Amino acid sequence: MADRRKDASHAAVRSGKESAAGAGREVRDGLQMSPTLMLDLARRAAELVVEWKEGLPGRDAWDGEFRQVLERQLMEDPPEDGRPAEEVLERAARDILPLSFRLEHPRSFAFIPSSPTWPGVLADFMAAGYNINACTWLVASGPSQLELVVIDWLRRWLGYPESAGGLLTSGGSAASLDAFVAARESAGHPERATVYMSDQSHSAHIRAARIIGVRPECIRLLPSDDRFRLDMDALARAVAEDRAAGFNPIAVCANAGAASTGAVDPLEAMSDYCEAEGIWLHADAAYGGFAAVTEEGKKLLRGIERADSIGLDAHKWFFQPYEAGGLLVKDASTLEKPFAVRHDILQDTIWGADHPNLSDRGLQLSRSFRALKIWMSVQTFGMAEFRRAVSQGMELADRAGEYVRGSPVLELLTPVSLGIVCFRVNPANAGLDGKTLDKVNRTVLAHLFWDDPAFVSSTLLHGTFALRLCILNHTTTWDDVRETLEAVESFGKEALSKAS
Ligand SMILES: Cc1ncc(COP(=O)(O)O)c(C=O)c1O
Repeated sequence: MADRRKDASHAAVRSGKESAAGAGREVRDGLQMSPTLMLDLARRAAELVVEWKEGLPGRDAWDGEFRQVLERQLMEDPPEDGRPAEEVLERAARDILPLSFRLEHPRSFAFIPSSPTWPGVLADFMAAGYNINACTWLVASGPSQLELVVIDWLRRWLGYPESAGGLLTSGGSAASLDAFVAARESAGHPERATVYMSDQSHSAHIRAARIIGVRPECIRLLPSDDRFRLDMDALARAVAEDRAAGFNPIAVCANAGAASTGAVDPLEAMSDYCEAEGIWLHADAAYGGFAAVTEEGKKLLRGIERADSIGLDAHKWFFQPYEAGGLLVKDASTLEKPFAVRHDILQDTIWGADHPNLSDRGLQLSRSFRALKIWMSVQTFGMAEFRRAVSQGMELADRAGEYVRGSPVLELLTPVSLGIVCFRVNPANAGLDGKTLDKVNRTVLAHLFWDDPAFVSSTLLHGTFALRLCILNHTTTWDDVRETLEAVESFGKEALSKAS
């Protein structure tokens, strides 16, 4: 469609304001800055970020500070008069941004790390610069169409039918919330609603269930088996007992990559069961879902395409900056039913059939343009590179598992799955009791935290303390993993010698 104001706006850019800025002075006018200043600042900001990224391997994967110290540095009244803009940038880069878990550090193995691509970072800058609000077709037709493109890519990677649709969200928590809303709606808003998930499911789902009004005592956390997968018999029993007692099951949540262990619940069996029982099945693939772009991941996630909804986060294993979550539902209309709410002020935004307003599919009206980062990264690098990067995480984790199995000091605690390795210091034949082992491994974790560049976190496996590596970053090499495991062995031996 012709941009009728194009000539006028170009003329404004070429106007006197810009030529005044051409002199290179810091020119501000109200809340505006001259083009030259904007470019200088953008260049400096880019330099700071690139220098930071380049320097990461030489730094620790974590840094932080106590509140009393930070309060002294940062707690202040907002200044009445502005300061030089570059000084403000430098201060953020010096005093604030580095004090964090450096998630993209090559030795970042804690929780769920992430290593965004540069086109993804730039896309966020451009989306902010163009000030996109991806709410409705009228307000953002280009961005809306691009989101449909990206959603279609996700759909195909996951093996969903063409009837599927969805939206990009802030993350997995928002995706599960939107999914539970759709589940409740499709169940007809019953009283005494119950939801089911394994004891390995992410707390995001408990929170989502609470938000939609499921009473805490109606959120059933079912036991997982020795491979940390949902116990199907326990699910069937719980549903039957609840129905007999007058409760109304509205949703079952399956792990497609549990955060602790990477375990994948029996997706085929859960689909069979939920189809037969008429219960909504949501697959939480927040971190594991992008494994589906690889052949091995597809096999591991087989059955996911039968779920009613799937949540997956591109800010985890698809190398995007925060926030980049996604929710797909098998039948796109199941989201619009609960979420599309008309308002007089928005009457002009209805373009009719085939022009979806993405805000009709979820919680947010004003929405950032998340699709751009995924699209720009994939356009720039191509899927072959993304597949290689996801596979690399799985291969390094498998290799780490082999290393642990071959170590005289370490014990593998769960099967390696989707980039996650759970293990502990426990020399074979040492005959150490559980309490001593927990103490030794907590000591090792503390040593890693304070005395090693890597950042490793822990979890509990049916109550047993475990060290856990989550190896997803495309910047991580085998040397990063091996040297971290060697550090665990060495700290472990030291802790064992003190424990005995
Ligand atoms: C398996 C799983 N589900 C859900 C979530 C919540 O996702 P988000 O933090 O993007 O809201 C996470 C976060 O790490 C996760 O690992």
